[in-house]
Amino acid sequence: MRTQYFTASSLDGFIATEDDSLEWLFPLGDLDDSSYPEFIAEVGALAMGSATYEWMLRNAKKVAAETGSSWPYTQPAWIFTRRALPAIEGADLRFVQGDVGQVHSQMRAAAGSRNIWIVGGGDLAGQFYDAGLLDELIIQIGSATLGKGKPLFPRRVLSPRLQLLSVRQMGGGMAELRYEIRTVGNNEV
Ligand SMILES: NC(=O)c1ccc[n+]([C@@H]2O[C@H](COP(=O)([O-])OP(=O)(O)OC[C@H]3O[C@@H](n4cnc5c(N)ncnc54)[C@H](OP(=O)(O)O)[C@@H]3O)[C@@H](O)[C@H]2O)c1
Repeated sequence: MRTQYFTASSLDGFIATEDDSLEWLFPLGDLDDSSYPEFIAEVGALAMGSATYEWMLRNAKKVAAETGSSWPYTQPAWIFTRRALPAIEGADLRFVQGDVGQVHSQMRAAAGSRNIWIVGGGDLAGQFYDAGLLDELIIQIGSATLGKGKPLFPRRVLSPRLQLLSVRQMGGGMAELRYEIRTVGNNEV
């Protein structure tokens, strides 16, 4: 069982514009050309922050047109927020807040031998990292820069902790990088 942060990023390290748009991302590549099909088949539970969830709420029609459902995940999902947010029909959701460690235990129990997907954003993935609970980063780097926006992973993680496992080219628009986060004593390394 691995806890994985799988996401797409601009070349300069942003996963969305400041106003949470992903329009820059869609022309760059097709998710089916990434490791997503194999990846999602092994996911048993997923977590996201409220901005990511609210993108799903705002874009429910677009998501449904592309995937056949406004909530394309069959796995149980944990949504981090301190606010009351509307549910999406048909989605298996839990609204949670605070310590990611306790939530991770619940997710592990639900996922069994399958993996845990941290969908985003970057700081939420960072909270799992801070707690020593993040095993891998799987990042599709897009051939685009944004200048500013929502950060990919606002943490300082240096070699030898971060190890590149593989690189996969997705045409001229993206490259997927897979990193392992190694345990090397403490998070100061
Ligand atoms: N490029 C991609 O493939 C990709 C992937 C994923 C997401 N995205 C996009 O990237 C953007 C991410 O936005 P973001 O960086 O703002 O991150 P986010 O994690 O989606 O949302 C952050 C918000 O989640 C809530 N939150 C986070 N940790 C919490 C905790 N421990 N307890 C309670 N609430 C917590 C807080 O909001 P409240 O308490 O106010 O609710 C916080 O402001 C979104 O636009 C999303 O659509 C892109």
